[in-house]
Amino acid sequence: MKILFVCLGNICRSPLAQGILEHKVKELKLDWEVDSAGTGSWHIGEPPDYRSVAVAKQFNIDISNQRARQLSIRDFEDYDYILPMDETNLKDINYVAKTIPARATIKSVMDFMPGNSSRIVPDPYFDGRFLEVYHLLNEVMDHVIDEIITRSE
Ligand code: 4NP
Repeated sequence: MKILFVCLGNICRSPLAQGILEHKVKELKLDWEVDSAGTGSWHIGEPPDYRSVAVAKQFNIDISNQRARQLSIRDFEDYDYILPMDETNLKDINYVAKTIPARATIKSVMDFMPGNSSRIVPDPYFDGRFLEVYHLLNEVMDHVIDEIITRSE
């Protein structure tokens, strides 16, 4: 299974999502490939925001080697799932998907949360709520794993 998380800059939310899912996938010995990308190009080549690196480290997850990249046309064919963080990301991704061959299932990551109250992972870049984002992503990721396994059976 190939999973791609997408946010705006690929320096705050999607690198954390990638690190958390990679961690769980390793523990479960699943043969999954996980990556992340941004819809925007501003941060290409940069490591994750230091606050994402720090919060991941608190939970023994090292995301410092990740480097930001921009979502590419090829990703729509390469990945089984493209999972955006918020509705702007979802809209931007769907806009592109309409115009090209797209194999991936595109679905907001928070839509995996049962009875979810919020459909978005809030952007912590300006308000600094990285710990809250970590907990949200950590919780939803168990449902992402369960649902993707169930769908593939
Ligand atoms: P991300 O957060 O989309 O979670 O990586 C952001 C990172 C950078 C900016 C905005 C959001 N920015 O405006 O540079």
